[in-house]
Amino acid sequence: MASLKDFTGRTALVTGGASGIGLACVQLLAQRGARVVVADVNAEAAATAADACGGSALTFDVADRAAVASACSALEQQGVEVDLLVNCAGIVQSPEPPDRFEHAVFQRVVAIDFEGTYACCAEFGSAMARRGKGAIVNVASVAGMRSMPLHAYSPAKAAVISLTECLAAEWGRSGVRVNAVSPGYTVTAALQSQIDLGLRDAERLKANSALGQLIAPVDIARAIVFLLSEEARVITGINLPADAGWLVAGSWSTFGGVRPGSPAAQTRPAG
Ligand code: NAI
Repeated sequence: MASLKDFTGRTALVTGGASGIGLACVQLLAQRGARVVVADVNAEAAATAADACGGSALTFDVADRAAVASACSALEQQGVEVDLLVNCAGIVQSPEPPDRFEHAVFQRVVAIDFEGTYACCAEFGSAMARRGKGAIVNVASVAGMRSMPLHAYSPAKAAVISLTECLAAEWGRSGVRVNAVSPGYTVTAALQSQIDLGLRDAERLKANSALGQLIAPVDIARAIVFLLSEEARVITGINLPADAGWLVAGSWSTFGGVRPGSPAAQTRPAG
């Protein structure tokens, strides 16, 4: 019997697949046998990522609904049937108060992080539903589950979680599962640039997580790929936090933070 983790014969499209969490998904899906389409606004990086895993690259801006629709129909005309979709394309914002937050930036964050996710679901997910099979994972964020000074990003990610529930019910009878993964603080170019600008404090982020660590992109990719796989065939409409316990530990800062672990845990090698 084929492994439930195997993706041989399946075609996966990963938006934002040229960098960070999306790139880790591309690599893991290719390792597990999927044919991968790396979709990104950065054509050069998408081509490099696709070449490295024997996949193909597709350049489009997820915020451009017409471009998403043409990418979807171009693939169908080539006979490529996308049956796995990871909506990972996204941008972050600086923590500005509303009186200093440029409306154009607000609109761009919502256009990419929420509307772009919807556009890709609407185009590729509808095609999956017509064919009667598929799985989608939308990348949300712990920022969509808690209050933060990110007045476009957090609501956009909360909307992604809600959209995931709506579409899971919409397409369940058509054989399409739709789930979300909410990463915690993951060391990618996007987070590193915020740390370098002094907008996020790496030590504080670690201190506020139960496991006391930042996250590697491959660990988020593992959660995403699990939800895409047959191992998760009865799971739909959920939002799975992959956050090193940031959601449960943050409120402990009121009490001075989580307790230090046992000496044995502190001397154990990472892994
Ligand atoms: P990243 O910046 O390393 O990668 C994002 C990719 O998306 C880039 O290749 C970029 O070119 C592409 N992209 C950006 N705008 C696009 C557009 N309009 N159309 C098509 N492609 C576009 O970012 P990272 O950190 O890997 O983030 C990936 C996703 O994970 C995002 O949705 C982000 O909000 C989410 N996330 C990341 C966290 C982190 O700590 N890194 C935490 C929680 C969520």
